[in-house]
Amino acid sequence: MKDQFGRDITYLRLSVTDRCNLRCRYCMPEEGVCKLTHNDMLTEDEMIMAVEAAASLGITKLRITGGEPLVKKNIVSICTRACAVPGITETAITTNGILLPELAKPLREAGIQRINLSLDTLDAEKYSRITRRGELTEALAGFRAALDAGFEKIKINAVLIGGFNDDEVRPLAELTKQYPIDVRFIELMPMYDSGDFGEEAFISCDSVLEQLPEAEAQGADGGVAKLYRLPGALGNVGLISPVSSHFCGSCNRIRLTADGRIKPCLHSDDEIRIKGMSKDEMTETLKQAIFEKPKWHGEMSYAERTHTHRDMNQIGG
Ligand code: GTP
Ligand code: 5AD
Ligand code: SF4
Repeated sequence: MKDQFGRDITYLRLSVTDRCNLRCRYCMPEEGVCKLTHNDMLTEDEMIMAVEAAASLGITKLRITGGEPLVKKNIVSICTRACAVPGITETAITTNGILLPELAKPLREAGIQRINLSLDTLDAEKYSRITRRGELTEALAGFRAALDAGFEKIKINAVLIGGFNDDEVRPLAELTKQYPIDVRFIELMPMYDSGDFGEEAFISCDSVLEQLPEAEAQGADGGVAKLYRLPGALGNVGLISPVSSHFCGSCNRIRLTADGRIKPCLHSDDEIRIKGMSKDEMTETLKQAIFEKPKWHGEMSYAERTHTHRDMNQIGG
């Protein structure tokens, strides 16, 4: 359905947990999450009901997010049931990949079509530093498992961080010459508590293009990324610029958090609780939340931080 500004809202991002097996510095605090009790979280049945309610309002694309969605014990069951909801025609998941060696095949069989993998560096020491605990070899094993499982599309997400991985733009981008994947660079968003890297850490996506002068612009992908292609590559390089040039005007997304709140905008503090509701109540509440989706999230920069009081792991990106 359309919101009050005429945007067609067709994409639901469903966060199934705020927990994660990593602690990426731009995403969540080192101590992890303050544990929500079981009763605060949506049950699997409630998640499926919410997807059905969303589909009845015209949502066709579903992305499962976290925290890290693969740490959720019933993730395969959630995906199997959510992918089967009538009206949902595009299904995807965003993951750090650590658990993909066991789960890539079951997720593909569950009906997940596409997978986005977070990978900010190809250097083992830097990977452990940015994730505070991860092993690059495990993330790469996950990438390999995703390739082998036959997803329709794999995209790598690299958050651009000045002084950390701005020297790796070329090696990361050149993965698109080796594999049939997209590699997307994302501007660092100033989240509530984490992600506080200092002003110099923010670099705009323009600097990626300066480092890849041979990249040729491609048509838009219909999502948040602007696409480019290196000569001879098998996939695209994507630039996601939520800070330097926001894409709120064409936003088609709505979010549902693991604790059962609809978030009409990633960076707004507006939240509407649907935990405990019947499907009809969920549908009515979603309808209103979609209609009232904010026009945009306001200025964002190192000084002008996000308005949401959540870290990224509590939203799912
Ligand atoms: P595709 O379906 O492949 O286009 O995926 P996606 O880009 O929608 O999802 P993904 O989970 O890979 O997110 C990539 C980056 O875009 C993450 O850093 C998200 O936080 C960011 N992002 C996604 N949607 C929005 C949005 O509505 N606003 C802002 N500011 N950032 C977003
Ligand atoms: N800024 C930009 N992207 C972020 N992500 C997590 N935190 C941030 C942030 N502060 C990205 C992750 C993941 C996606 C869901 O969101 O890299 O790929
Ligand atoms: Fe976990 Fe993804 Fe957040 Fe990293 S970005 S801490 S992998 S949820």
